[in-house]
Amino acid sequence: MTLSIAVAGKGGIGKTTLIGLLVRALRGRGVRPILAVDADPNANLAETLGVDEGRTLADIREEGSAPEGSPSSGIGRVRAVEDELQRAISEAEGFDLVTMGRPEGPRCYCAVNNLLRKSLDELAWNYAAVVIDNEAGLEHLSRRTTNDIDYLIAVLNPTRPSLRAARRIVDLSRELPVRIGCRAVLLNRVEPQGLPVEVERDLEALDAYRLPDVPEDPDLLRAGAVGRDVFTLPATGPALSAIDQVAEILATHTEPVH
Ligand SMILES: Nc1ncnc2c1ncn2[C@@H]1O[C@H](COP(=O)(O)OP(=O)(O)O)[C@@H](O)[C@H]1O
Ligand SMILES: [Mg+2]
Repeated sequence: MTLSIAVAGKGGIGKTTLIGLLVRALRGRGVRPILAVDADPNANLAETLGVDEGRTLADIREEGSAPEGSPSSGIGRVRAVEDELQRAISEAEGFDLVTMGRPEGPRCYCAVNNLLRKSLDELAWNYAAVVIDNEAGLEHLSRRTTNDIDYLIAVLNPTRPSLRAARRIVDLSRELPVRIGCRAVLLNRVEPQGLPVEVERDLEALDAYRLPDVPEDPDLLRAGAVGRDVFTLPATGPALSAIDQVAEILATHTEPVH
């Protein structure tokens, strides 16, 4: 069974960083191969994972898919799109990356797009885990039709606007056309002194499973500032240690269903 994890939250909250660390932690636990999907229009997962972005699915879509001379319909077309998707995958040790790129606009070639989504969903079954970096609007997930999500993780910081955004994500997720096994929240950048009681109270009211908090980590801040990938970070760093606990919960399904 493929473990399917979708991470969502406001820009700048730490989604991509946490996904990078999660890929590292899951891989370290023997969950491999992993497919990382960058579904955030503000894509930066490739840099965080230290791999080439390659061609995005938006590039394939904009070019109308099929290369010169390939069939324009039927099974031949399906194969052509599958081939293009294969070529868009960046491969690394124990994980692969696919970048969605720009969202579909008015020039969307819907047939190609539907084929791409279907191929991506089918491709996912070849992996031990799929981890998806989403923007807060969950646009990518709202268009999926087949695969279930085991965990939807709303990332937030201990601030009011971020709590509101997390609530919107949790609410929105209830309207998605996919089955979600567990709705979870993950607090990132928690300071050593802990959280104000108001934030603790609001978190409880979210009615979502709370994963272990991830602390503010000076190494992460530095890595982000100079564009270094997550594999260069020390294994004993506070954020990576916390994410390893998260990875253990996700990989072994030890949380209650939400
Ligand atoms: N726990 C943390 N401690 C310190 N810095 C962090 C932490 N989490 C994220 N950051 C920094 O915050 C910045 C934004 O994170 P990013 O993962 O790109 O956010 P998002 O993908 O949600 O837009 C990055 O520079 C990253 O290094
Ligand atoms: Mg990001």
